[in-house]
Amino acid sequence: MASITPISQSQTLFNNPQFRARKPQTMFLTNPNSKFFGGKSSSSSSAGGAVRVKKAATAEPAAAAEKQRRRYPGEAKGFVEEMRFVAMKLHTRDQAKEGEKESEGPPVAKWNPTVDGYLRFLVDSKLVYDTLEGIVEKAAFPEYAEFRNTGLERSESLAKDLEWFKEQGHAIPEPSSPGVTYANHLVDLSEKDPQAFICHFYNIYFAHSAGGRMIGKKVAEMILDKKELEFYKWNGDLSQLLQGVRDKLNRVAESWTREEKNHCLEETEKSFKLSGDILRLILS
Ligand code: HEM
Repeated sequence: MASITPISQSQTLFNNPQFRARKPQTMFLTNPNSKFFGGKSSSSSSAGGAVRVKKAATAEPAAAAEKQRRRYPGEAKGFVEEMRFVAMKLHTRDQAKEGEKESEGPPVAKWNPTVDGYLRFLVDSKLVYDTLEGIVEKAAFPEYAEFRNTGLERSESLAKDLEWFKEQGHAIPEPSSPGVTYANHLVDLSEKDPQAFICHFYNIYFAHSAGGRMIGKKVAEMILDKKELEFYKWNGDLSQLLQGVRDKLNRVAESWTREEKNHCLEETEKSFKLSGDILRLILS
C-alpha cells in the first residue's frame, strides 16, 4: 500500500508561497457574475445561479463587500461541486441535460465508430492514464500522493483490453498526437501548476465514470458485439470510490485561495478540448 500524505502536512506545503507555482491568471471565472455563472442575478437563490449572501447593514465598506460577495455555484457543497458545475456547462445540450454548448457533431447514438478508431482512442487514453497515475505515484507536490490507489485507476484495465484486442488479431497502434499532447500537458502542469493539474485529474476520472461509460456501452453495442471492456469495470462500488475521491479533492482545495480555485476552474475548458480530441479518435 502506498502511503497517504496526511492532509495537515500537505496543507502547509500548499500554503507555502514556495509551492505556489505562479500567480494564477484571473480571467472570467474570477467573478461569479461571469458568463459561467449566468451573469448578474439578483435572486437570493436559484439552481446553479449565484447566491447572494445576506446584505451587511452598515459597518466598514470592506466588511460589507465581503458579506455581499456572491457564493460561487456549488461553493457551499465543496470545491468538487464547483468543478462539476463548470464542467456540466461545457457539455453540449445533447451530451448532458445541464449542457449549454451547441452540438458540433452527431450525438453518440448516431456515431459511426470503427474498431481501428476505437483502438486509437483506447491507446491514447491509456497514455493519459499511465501519465496521470505516474504523476501521483511520483508526487512532485505532496498533495498528489493523496490520489494514489483511489480505485479509479484505469491504466491496468486498459492494458488488459489492449491485450484482448491483440488476441483477436488486431494490431495495436502507437499513441497518436491527441494522446501525446494531453500527456505532455499533464506532465508540464503537474510540476508547476498543481491547481490546474488537479482540474484535469478530476475531469478525466469523473468524465470517464459518467459520459465515458455511456459511450463505451454504445460503442460496444455497435462494433464489439456488446463485449464489456475492463476499462468500464471497477473493483468495488463505483459511487463509493468516486465519493472517496471527491472528499479528498475537497480537502485539498480547502487550503487554496479563491484565486487558486478560480485558476483551477479556468482549466476546465482545456480539459474538455484535450479530452474531446481523444474522444474524436473513435470516429477516425
Ligand atoms: C460525448 C462526450 C460526452 C458525453 C456524452 C458526456 C455525458 C455526460 C453525462 C450524461 C454526465 C452525467 C450528468 C449527470 O450527472 O446528470 C456527464 C458528467 C460529467 N462529464 Fe461528461 N460527457 C462527455 C464529455 C465530457 C468531457 C470531454 C469531459 C471533460 C474532460 C466531461 C466531464 C464530465 C464531468 C466532470 C462530469 C460530472 C461527473 C460527476 O458528477 O460525477 N464530459 N457527462
